[in-house]
Amino acid sequence: MNPSEPSQIQSPVLLIGAGGMLGRAWRGLLSRSRVAYDAPPVADFDLKRPATLAPASSGPWRTVINCAAWTDVDGAESREGEARALNADGVGALAQACRRSGATLVHYSTDYVFDGSAREPIPVDAPRRPLGAYGRTKASGEEAIESSGCRGVIVRTSWLYAPWGKNFVLTMRGLLRTRPLVRVVNDQRGRPTSAEHLALASAALLAQEAEGLWHLTDGGECSWFEFAREIAALTPGACPLEPCTTREFPRPAPRPGYSVLDISDAERLLGPMPHWTDNLAGVIAQLPDPAPASR
Ligand SMILES: NC(=O)c1ccc[n+]([C@@H]2O[C@H](COP(=O)([O-])OP(=O)(O)OC[C@H]3O[C@@H](n4cnc5c(N)ncnc54)[C@H](OP(=O)(O)O)[C@@H]3O)[C@@H](O)[C@H]2O)c1
Repeated sequence: MNPSEPSQIQSPVLLIGAGGMLGRAWRGLLSRSRVAYDAPPVADFDLKRPATLAPASSGPWRTVINCAAWTDVDGAESREGEARALNADGVGALAQACRRSGATLVHYSTDYVFDGSAREPIPVDAPRRPLGAYGRTKASGEEAIESSGCRGVIVRTSWLYAPWGKNFVLTMRGLLRTRPLVRVVNDQRGRPTSAEHLALASAALLAQEAEGLWHLTDGGECSWFEFAREIAALTPGACPLEPCTTREFPRPAPRPGYSVLDISDAERLLGPMPHWTDNLAGVIAQLPDPAPASR
């Protein structure tokens, strides 16, 4: 990927969801690049309470980056209304506020807007066909931005991880050092994505004045089992791993079997995305040395 120019982002920036996994990556990037930004806590800027969103339309913000979302995929199955209030209605209200102020809205969406039946990387303009509640609410959020008339960039991504937050890499590191054996599904394929790299690549998109829908992930593809195998290779004292099927590991929300997003539009503009194994090694290198394995 070509070096990005975060300092070219139109500032000041309003960063929403700054305490989350991706929000924290954006916060680090904006701070390092000395871009002026504000990151209000949820109590002051709550996407479920439209009355608190006034600063987005009346403030000085030239760019609004929304990293906030209901991300509990399984929980959304039984609480779709709450997930929708944030991922669809709140996002729609935010897009309206940006239309009024003229700020550019940067918003994140997901591979879960697709049903997983594809057999090759899913193009940006493929029809939305979510399998579960989380995907339905995220698809509605995309539609709300598209119909709002705001200047918006919607970035779909997948399998996000970082040196912080709740994610597969950190969970797997813990399991690999405390369990005698870990079984991981091998029949779902996708693209892991480093949150720090995603923030950097998003900044590069903004520097190119991109608009509309984009797919941004790390390069390459793998199954969850292959992802776990690479994590294990970088984790001293890791226990053995065994592949299993989705059927053997039932969850409340259905998972798409094939989630590889086609990132060729972004790569034409920004250059090739780093392979997921390279980004993974960079993230694991940032983690503190693990305590001795206990099992
Ligand atoms: N994680 C993934 O694997 C993945 C994959 C594909 C796409 N995405 C998308 O990428 C984006 C970032 O995901 P993430 O994993 O970084 O999310 P995350 O870690 O779950 O963080 C979500 C953030 O949203 C905030 N938030 C929750 N309710 C809010 C409300 N009512 N108003 C304002 N803020 C609220 C949370 O604040 P508190 O912490 O204070 O509650 C938190 O800072 C999301 O749009 C997600 O759908 C994620």
